[in-house]
Amino acid sequence: MYNLYPYFTNDGSVGLFSPEADDIYHSTYGALSEAYEKFILPANLEKYFETHKQIKVLDICYGIGYNTKSFLNFLIEKNILKINFQKNNLKKNNNIDTIHTNNISCTLNNVSIYSNNNCKTNNDIMFNKVMHDNTISIDTVYSNNTLHKNSSCNDEEVKIFIKALDMDEILFLLSPFFKQGNENDKKHNKLNFHYDKIVKLLNCKFEQKYKLKNEVNFLILNKIIDKMPQIFENKVFEEILTSRKYRAFFDSKLRGYFKLLKYKRCKYSVLRRIMSFLHNIYYSHISTSYKRAVNCFKIDNFIFEPKTGDARKSIIDDKELYNLIFLDAFTPAKCPALWSLEFFKLLYEHLEADGMILTYSSSAAVRNAMLNAGFFVGKIFNEQSNKFTGTIAVKNKSLIKYELSEYDLGLINSKAGIFYRDEKLNGLNEAIIEAREKEVEKSDKISSSAFIKRFKRSF
Ligand SMILES: C[S@@+](CC[C@H](N)C(=O)[O-])C[C@H]1O[C@@H](n2cnc3c(N)ncnc32)[C@H](O)[C@@H]1O
Repeated sequence: MYNLYPYFTNDGSVGLFSPEADDIYHSTYGALSEAYEKFILPANLEKYFETHKQIKVLDICYGIGYNTKSFLNFLIEKNILKINFQKNNLKKNNNIDTIHTNNISCTLNNVSIYSNNNCKTNNDIMFNKVMHDNTISIDTVYSNNTLHKNSSCNDEEVKIFIKALDMDEILFLLSPFFKQGNENDKKHNKLNFHYDKIVKLLNCKFEQKYKLKNEVNFLILNKIIDKMPQIFENKVFEEILTSRKYRAFFDSKLRGYFKLLKYKRCKYSVLRRIMSFLHNIYYSHISTSYKRAVNCFKIDNFIFEPKTGDARKSIIDDKELYNLIFLDAFTPAKCPALWSLEFFKLLYEHLEADGMILTYSSSAAVRNAMLNAGFFVGKIFNEQSNKFTGTIAVKNKSLIKYELSEYDLGLINSKAGIFYRDEKLNGLNEAIIEAREKEVEKSDKISSSAFIKRFKRSF
């Protein structure tokens, strides 16, 4: 049985807890805030896009997708990624009609798209439009998932490719549905799970610094439907999405939209006809923001490739080079498989010369593994909290804004800096931990506590 342990974090976004890893997926301070502050803002994307027209992102440990979502949200907010809302369509009686009536003339521009779909009715046209609009546009635009110049994509538009990796297929499928709640939603947190682990942290002040646009989740859902059509058959996913227990954590608009698409698939059933009827009513009453979100399907310069499985294997099989890598695995002390020297060597091979790896971890063992893999290593600084909040690894030293301090380097040279090893890139976490413990025991390096004492005394 699949267990999900959601809770509202201090910025209203939903976080998860993993009993297996005995670890939280997201900071209780705010799942969305964490993504923004540790992965998006330090990437200096505005500067990047001054000189680049495309970006390839590798989101390692996608989970429920906050890093990918914040990335898209940021680009949309900064008008770097332009979503074609088709403003004219938002006028009364225009946008709605093109979606669900016999108004073929309004969709004339798109008719060629459906020509091979053997559509028999206008309902089918509508269905195929909603279901396949992006697929068709993108598959013809980018063959082999590379960001080639194409005819339907304006040269001025930025092109975005995101590959997302995670072992957990259910989380991929659920990822677009999580809502951003408010302070009152915290009352739903008392689900019967390891609440004691997070309750103290959740008592902190509620603060919503960042807001996810509706269209980001719609965009992701559309891409997931395209790349993971099993979403319509997966029983575990459906049970969770429709369970009363979890309802408070999901966005009702997204759930409603998905339900609509799911029933639309049973082409000739009576239920489908009823749903079509309901659908028309539904569309006639939905909010403008929702209509805008549905319209964002028009975006054809964004490719999303979710990949389920062990990230080590997925990256070994990958031929792509990335500009940006988000590394958001569980804590190295419990799940070292994605923090070993060999894993960073693998990432080195997949990073562009001007690329960067960003992670929340400040572990000396992780930083040492990065250095030994050939990277220049620096720190992530959060100006708002005036704290260092993570680590950045690059091939081009000039991209480092905050260098490692004398203290950080001292720690790296102590026992704390002994990195994890996973020679064949397929070791189990337990075995990797055990091997490191033995190495630490045998090592004659200074212990981290002795180093810290000595360092403090020297001041
Ligand atoms: C800290 S959470 C990631 C949170 C995520 N970035 C988000 O925004 O929701 C860690 C994730 O790593 C995944 N994971 C753990 N080991 C993995 C592995 N070897 N390969 C791929 N994913 C892994 C888990 O399924 C979990 O979703």
